[in-house]
Amino acid sequence: MVAESEKITPDKKIAEKGVILSGMRPTGRLHLGNYLGALENWVALQQEYRCIYTVVDIHALTTIESPTDVSQIQPNILEMVLDWLAAGVDPEQSTVFVQSQVPQVMSLHTLLSMVTPLGWLMRVPTFKEKIRQMEETEESVNYGLLGYPVLQTADIILYKADTVPVGQDQLPHIELAREIVRRFNHRFGDTFPEPQAKLTEAPLIIGMDGHQKMSKSVNNHLDLAATEEETTQRVLTAFTDPQRLRRTDPGRPEVCNVYSLHKLFSSAEEVNTVYEECTTAQRGCVDCKRHLARSINAFLEPMRERRREFEKRPGYVREILDEGGKKARAIAQVTIEEVYQRMGLA
Ligand code: TRP
Ligand code: SF4
Repeated sequence: MVAESEKITPDKKIAEKGVILSGMRPTGRLHLGNYLGALENWVALQQEYRCIYTVVDIHALTTIESPTDVSQIQPNILEMVLDWLAAGVDPEQSTVFVQSQVPQVMSLHTLLSMVTPLGWLMRVPTFKEKIRQMEETEESVNYGLLGYPVLQTADIILYKADTVPVGQDQLPHIELAREIVRRFNHRFGDTFPEPQAKLTEAPLIIGMDGHQKMSKSVNNHLDLAATEEETTQRVLTAFTDPQRLRRTDPGRPEVCNVYSLHKLFSSAEEVNTVYEECTTAQRGCVDCKRHLARSINAFLEPMRERRREFEKRPGYVREILDEGGKKARAIAQVTIEEVYQRMGLA
């Protein structure tokens, strides 16, 4: 028998779950690195948390330079969200929406800028890095880019999220969010929980060029939505052990990216065979890559299948996003009213 006081209603159960918020810029179709580095984790977290996932289109504007870039935003949003859904982000369980459909985030950004010292923002490593990449200076760079982490803080705390799954590179942003929250709470009264980063433990996924992180900008990636043939072709271009010049040379799996990928996508038994046959020159690299392509294709097939189903329903993604936007705005409005009151606004 469960005592009356111990019975929990479904609502209460939800309230007891932590609130997760995470976001991605609308970059279009996602690749395997994005999946293993973030998306896989997003899907898993839905069991334990109330999850809110957002496409941060306003953040995308910080680096947009031309009308062509602008024309890519909407298609990129739809393609990316299709990948989220195909990977298993479940809009029945989680709130999925587009940042700009909740204009309250811009109000909160402005209000948080009142408690954010300029020095904090100028010290953020991603800011310095972006200035370098964009060949700008602190004088020429747009004000929006400097405020990027303030907007990110607004994304998180607008929903009073307590946990933020991110990669290592985002830790300075979450630390800044915590400092902004501490200042806000100190000055205006306890309003927001200090968000915690939840580091995604994922192996570094090297691209097909074998040199650097898998990334769309260097075109060494494997798209989740690529066809079986496209995937096989890409895998066949993969860089292997550079010292293995002849088929009769034994290879060194420990320096070969194809082997690292086998470890992620092939069975333990197959991985052992690869190791054995590579180090004794019984297997050629082309065969090895064909074999890897089969493993990756088997892994991606269920996602592709789901994607095809969603693609058959025109307007489906838009509906999900509109619905998510509605839910997000309802929460956001409550927070903004509380913030207005705390800050002495009408
Ligand atoms: N800055 C994040 C990135 O580049 C994207 C982002 C925006 C985000 N707002 C967020 C991530 C809120 C987590 C929480 O990856
Ligand atoms: Fe890499 Fe496979 Fe070639 Fe060995 S046989 S070097 S593991 S691709």
